[in-house]
Amino acid sequence: MGDLARLLKESWSLVEEHQDKVAGYFYARIFLSYPDLRELFPVHMDVQRSRLLNAIVTAVQTLEDPERFDDYLRALGRDHRKFHVETEHYEVVGGALIEAMREYAGEQWSVEYDQAWADAYAVIAAKMLGGAEADTNPPYWWAEVVAHERRSRDIAVFTVEPMQPIDFRAGQYFSLECPRIQPRLWRTYSPANAPRRDNSLEFHVRAIGAGWVSSALVRRLEVGDMVKLAAPMGTMNLDRRSTRDAVFVAGGTGLAPIKSLLEELTRYNRTRWVHVFFGARNRDDLYDLAELNRLAARHPWLSVVTACSEDPTFPGERGNISDVVARYGPWNEHDFFVSGSGRMVKATLRTLAELQVPSIRVRYDSFS
Ligand SMILES: Cc1cc2nc3c(=O)[nH]c(=O)nc-3n(C[C@H](O)[C@H](O)[C@H](O)COP(=O)(O)OP(=O)(O)OC[C@H]3O[C@@H](n4cnc5c(N)ncnc54)[C@H](O)[C@@H]3O)c2cc1C
Ligand code: HEM
Repeated sequence: MGDLARLLKESWSLVEEHQDKVAGYFYARIFLSYPDLRELFPVHMDVQRSRLLNAIVTAVQTLEDPERFDDYLRALGRDHRKFHVETEHYEVVGGALIEAMREYAGEQWSVEYDQAWADAYAVIAAKMLGGAEADTNPPYWWAEVVAHERRSRDIAVFTVEPMQPIDFRAGQYFSLECPRIQPRLWRTYSPANAPRRDNSLEFHVRAIGAGWVSSALVRRLEVGDMVKLAAPMGTMNLDRRSTRDAVFVAGGTGLAPIKSLLEELTRYNRTRWVHVFFGARNRDDLYDLAELNRLAARHPWLSVVTACSEDPTFPGERGNISDVVARYGPWNEHDFFVSGSGRMVKATLRTLAELQVPSIRVRYDSFS
């Protein structure tokens, strides 16, 4: 471990157990000195308060070698434009962070620690600012909701039309905010379509129990609402040069990016066999099966296997989708695309490793 990394870890350990208090002090410091900055943050700071602080602490501590994370930090800086973050805010936030830690670390805090955090923060902030300045896109695009359909108790499919075209690749995801129902709360969602001529984007969203945004999008979003979309991101894209057959493994609304990739394939594929494994807890949550079956009927290269993990009378496969994939195969010559909850993705990656699928052939998006 380098000297800087040691100093950062050592000093954080002095305040770690008072994280809540550090967060409270950090935000109070920012908002008392610069009340206008309160407008950048979500209304419900009690729940969200440590999102930024945790993010910075994690970034500073894990990005030991910021050069390696250049692309990520530049993208993060570009993305921060959607929060209306300006250059001068970086100094305010960096200063508040160090003051908050110093306040709770007590006598063991030292000037060396001050310097270590200031240095690490400065390098990261410079990279984020570089990314923000180099971006020629707007910080976000407005889009109108033109259709909204509940497909099950917890799942909705809705379509938006952006006011201006947005450049993205099939398989990427967007950050989305709906100011009418959850102002200043952004979450990421994957469109279920490849770029289209009319620019429309279809989203598949599942409400998560205690979640703030997804349940509002499922239950309260209406046709005519305006949403903001920011920064297409992600690298779960098709490699057009690959001639290998492909396997798509989707859990629940993890189907969205998979359908986006499928739509791209329908435009040019003639030679690759494509297998979709679509899993959910029960048959109601296989919310887009009719459309998948229609695609499979139209494209002879496509086959679909469905599975339910908690529906004992389901007529298709039963069990977790990761186990179902293992019942088929062999898979060592295939490209894999995996998308769904953190648990589902983790289980599938483990299964693929056991089946000796080289990790270089596996792309994935984990929803948590
Ligand atoms: C790259 C990417 C793409 C995504 N694409 C989609 C998509 O296309 N469709 C879609 O429906 N979702 C998608 N998600 C997930 C989505 O962005 C939200 O994180 C998720 O819906 C929860 O948001 P929330 O505001 O409802 O909950 P939050 O307010 O963020 O969380 C509230 C509580 O719920 C817990 N929680 C959050 N997520 C989960 C989870 N998955 N399972 C169990 N507990 C959880 C949190 O730990 C927290 O305690 C994607 C996520 C990522 C990272
Ligand atoms: C080293 C500098 C910084 C790092 C590493 C960093 C990192 C992050 C990350 C990873 C997130 C979560 C992103 C998401 O959930 O979409 C976030 C959220 C946020 N950041 Fe930053 N950030 C930095 C500086 C700043 C600055 C200077 C501001 C200006 C005030 C700022 C304002 C915000 C806001 C408003 C949010 C959303 C918070 C929420 O939803 O609760 N950030 N930051």
